[in-house]
Amino acid sequence: MPFGFVSAWNKRRRSKSQDHSDPWIYKPAEFWQLEDQTPQTTKRRHGSSVFTLKEMEDATCSFSDDNLVGKGGFGRVYRGILKSGQVVAVKKMELLGIKEAEGELEFRVEVDILSRLDHPNLVSLIGYCADGKHRFLVYEYMHNGNLQDHLNGIKVRRMDWPQRLRVALGAAKGLAYLHSSSCVGIPIVHRDFKSTNILLDVNFEAKISDFGLAKLMPEGEETHVTARVFGTFGYFDPEYTSTGKLTLQSDVYAFGVVLLELLTGRRAVDLNQGPNDQNLVLQVRHLLNDCKMLRKVIDPDMIRNSYTIESIFMFANLASRCVRPESNERPSMKDCVKEIQIIICTNTKGLGMVMHSLRML
Ligand SMILES: Nc1ncnc2c1ncn2[C@@H]1O[C@H](COP(=O)(O)OP(=O)(O)OP(=O)(O)O)[C@@H](O)[C@H]1O
Ligand SMILES: [Mg+2]
Repeated sequence: MPFGFVSAWNKRRRSKSQDHSDPWIYKPAEFWQLEDQTPQTTKRRHGSSVFTLKEMEDATCSFSDDNLVGKGGFGRVYRGILKSGQVVAVKKMELLGIKEAEGELEFRVEVDILSRLDHPNLVSLIGYCADGKHRFLVYEYMHNGNLQDHLNGIKVRRMDWPQRLRVALGAAKGLAYLHSSSCVGIPIVHRDFKSTNILLDVNFEAKISDFGLAKLMPEGEETHVTARVFGTFGYFDPEYTSTGKLTLQSDVYAFGVVLLELLTGRRAVDLNQGPNDQNLVLQVRHLLNDCKMLRKVIDPDMIRNSYTIESIFMFANLASRCVRPESNERPSMKDCVKEIQIIICTNTKGLGMVMHSLRML
């Protein structure tokens, strides 16, 4: 929960010294700007916009059901049009049980962090509204909704393999960016990476959303932080759930689960299946490195002539390494980006050869 996490963070901040060299201490955006002069930080030079409740109501026709695009654990998401004509997604946060003053501070802390992040594969935060007890986050609008709906949800059109590979690559690049120190000077772990948090724009390019659970990672020797377990069933790193040790590799595990969803078209957790088949990783992990068995788990809705078995095998192999129980045996997100680029080349070349041989006939 975003506010739970920021609250824990603030508590820790209060209990520690005010030394700004400690990566655990929250630093306001201005502080980061002084310290970090890299070009990434300058793109948002206008900062996030601040909206009033009236502006949010006007944008969404008073939060009419016609504008409702989704509902998540933290509230509802509406499509809206700002006065400028820009189409946006307005996330109306439900903040039950949070004291007003504390909620306000924490909300601003979160927005400060979010507004530092800037990458083509991350959903942009345009602004926010903190008016009385109301809290909204305003994001760029993603016309094609979330990935899960295209794989096994409400959307009719099923994605072909090159499209799925492109989504995997975009998501990998977004996560690799968070894990690198380039956004706010130190690595960030997403903590709730999943197929409903991968949104698709008008060209089906993937962008990662919901950084509310993001947690800044400490630098130096310490490579993990302990925290309350947040996230979503089906995507939990087993090491994280058993020890509470949160690492960047916890995101890699969740990324591996999304790769399996792309490959099989199945859900990370499907309660309609029998007790042994509800968890996707447990269901398919033992089949991923067996070429013959692998064919049985390929999404039957995927157009057959859009993939080569070789690229599927490489993809499944990468997924199986991402979901290894031992976090130090998983690849980094940077490695995942490189591997997916190779897989895309392999598939393109393979299909080109098939087309070529068909033309020869
Ligand atoms: N920027 C956006 N543009 C278009 N649609 C969006 C946007 N953000 C969210 N949505 C839609 O609203 C839905 C609900 O989003 P929300 O983030 O609240 O919940 P979730 O990610 O589905 O689940 P959870 O609360 O467990 O994280 C998403 O699944 C997506 O379909
Ligand atoms: Mg979400």
